[in-house]
Amino acid sequence: MPAAVLGKRQRPLEVVVKPSPRLIRSRRRISTILEEEDDNDEEMADTIVVRADPVPEPTAGIEESLRTPKRTRRSAPPKSGAMIPLSPQRANTVFKVTKVTAASGFTKENKDFNEAPPKTPRHRDAIKKPSTPRHRVCVVSKPMTPRSKLLATPTHAATPSTAITTAKSLFSRSTQAGRLIGRDSERSQLQSFLKSRFDARTGGCLYITGPPGCGKSALLTEIMGELAGDAKVSIKKAWINCMSLHTPNAIYASLLDSFSVQSEGIEFSDLEALFISTEKSRIYVLVLDEIDHLLSHDLLPTLFELSLRKNSRLILIGIANALDLADRFLPRMKAKNLEPELLRFLPYTAPQISEVLTARLRSLLTPAEVGADANFLPFVHPAAIQLLSKKVASASGDLRKAFDILRRALELVEMESLQALRTQMQDGEKPLGLASASVFSPARKALAETSLNSPAPRPTVQVNWTPSTAPRASLAHVAKASSATLGASISSRVAKLNAHQKAVLCVLVAKNGTTPWPLIKLKDAYSKACKDVLGLMPLVGAEFRGVVDAMEAMGVMDILPAQGKGKDREERAVARVGRMELLTAVSAEGTKGKEGLIKVLVS
Ligand SMILES: Nc1ncnc2c1ncn2[C@@H]1O[C@H](COP(=O)(O)OP(=O)(O)OP(=O)(O)O)[C@@H](O)[C@H]1O
Ligand SMILES: [Mg+2]
Repeated sequence: MPAAVLGKRQRPLEVVVKPSPRLIRSRRRISTILEEEDDNDEEMADTIVVRADPVPEPTAGIEESLRTPKRTRRSAPPKSGAMIPLSPQRANTVFKVTKVTAASGFTKENKDFNEAPPKTPRHRDAIKKPSTPRHRVCVVSKPMTPRSKLLATPTHAATPSTAITTAKSLFSRSTQAGRLIGRDSERSQLQSFLKSRFDARTGGCLYITGPPGCGKSALLTEIMGELAGDAKVSIKKAWINCMSLHTPNAIYASLLDSFSVQSEGIEFSDLEALFISTEKSRIYVLVLDEIDHLLSHDLLPTLFELSLRKNSRLILIGIANALDLADRFLPRMKAKNLEPELLRFLPYTAPQISEVLTARLRSLLTPAEVGADANFLPFVHPAAIQLLSKKVASASGDLRKAFDILRRALELVEMESLQALRTQMQDGEKPLGLASASVFSPARKALAETSLNSPAPRPTVQVNWTPSTAPRASLAHVAKASSATLGASISSRVAKLNAHQKAVLCVLVAKNGTTPWPLIKLKDAYSKACKDVLGLMPLVGAEFRGVVDAMEAMGVMDILPAQGKGKDREERAVARVGRMELLTAVSAEGTKGKEGLIKVLVS
């Protein structure tokens, strides 16, 4: 038996090569097979059943070699009809050696040879030696060759813009407030103060104080916008946010610039010449917001003094939010014989907060929707608004916090609803409320199929929600959002940030501590840190903006709106976390990528 001749261990399935009569002349091929098999005894142990497939007629060129067969170590080539074990590789080799050509007579039409030899074995060989894989091997879905994170394909599609996105934008800090709701008493006090000064054509000063987010700046902005001169008097207005000044001394230049005064140097006499005049046809209204940042500066009492002098044409309104500032500031003014009027804003109560939130949400309804149900509240359940208002009122009465929580709650309900729709689409159900059900773009699908390592992309969902059909945030959403914004300590807030948010915060604190820094510079520095230190793909455009807005909502950063001219026209970011606090928070056990973040922070 050939198996015995070759001394091979045989598997139960025996290879039987039974050359057809046409194969008798193919001695050379058989001897070649034997020679190769001898070279690799191990492989021969793994023989499988192969049929004796036809070997093509030798061409004239090999006729000669057939007559003088190649010498092999195995002296006696098997006789015709002998049983020859073949491994799948050998079998393939056999059938690759001779080309089937029309010239040689082996065509499909030739009935004798119309069964093509199989090129790959039909059975897997369990004891075969492992061969080098032709493709990258995937072990527990991780590539063996590490890939740079920078090259990684983003795993999720951009969140589609929905009616909820529009609702969220109503509560973003950069959004200009519409008409203010409530604050009627404060409004009338302010209006009467101004009116009395305009009527008398004299200067004066007012100091507005109140806790953060109680509408001081918003109300004054609205009133300033309504101020208009008449034929008898022209009103020049200027608004300076003292927090956005690079140095306290910059107040001089900013003042002169705001009133379009050309001056060589910056002298007190310039200000005096501007504001003290017997000419009654012109009045200057100057608002200094966040004046607590100027408290230590000499100019502040000087300006208050200028506004109270005889023939003064300066109406000065200072705004500050530190609660004890009036007690510290006013006695100092009194000591200098200066007494500004005082207007105190109280924190918002729960009904006031609820009224503002309800009015903003309902502003998105069409007149027809408003007419259909006078009490319908889109996007948020009324009970959730009540809960939110009570929580914020009992914490601080800061309307900004209420906006942040509401935005976060809307974000949560949007994410949840879109995720539910995606799951339904992937499960093959037809989701309700979808304008189009494109699961994957063709390009992403192709990418997913060719990539061994990328997680499956999220399907793109486009929804056709309207304010009246969009899902609404519930009590649970508000409770979750408010615990993140109100109760949490700095370190737990930082812990909740994602990798990009942590990167932005660390860069901001590293570059500028807790003083405002232009958002555009922050974006550039963050991109650089992502590439150079953190190994992250930096976010750009709307995605970066989204990250920043979310951080504001989580209470770790503020965005100061653009105002003024030149450098002041850019938005600025201010961290609400100190360097040491942040360092402690990012160094916490289990923080992903903490080495990089610490490196950024201490750089
Ligand atoms: N009565 C209101 N109706 C509608 N929106 C309001 C009302 N009061 C405040 N807001 C909004 O709340 C946000 C915070 O208000 P604002 O900036 O006036 O607070 P503030 O008292 O100046 O706080 P801070 O002392 O921190 O400067 C703004 O977006 C403003 O538009
Ligand atoms: Mg303000």
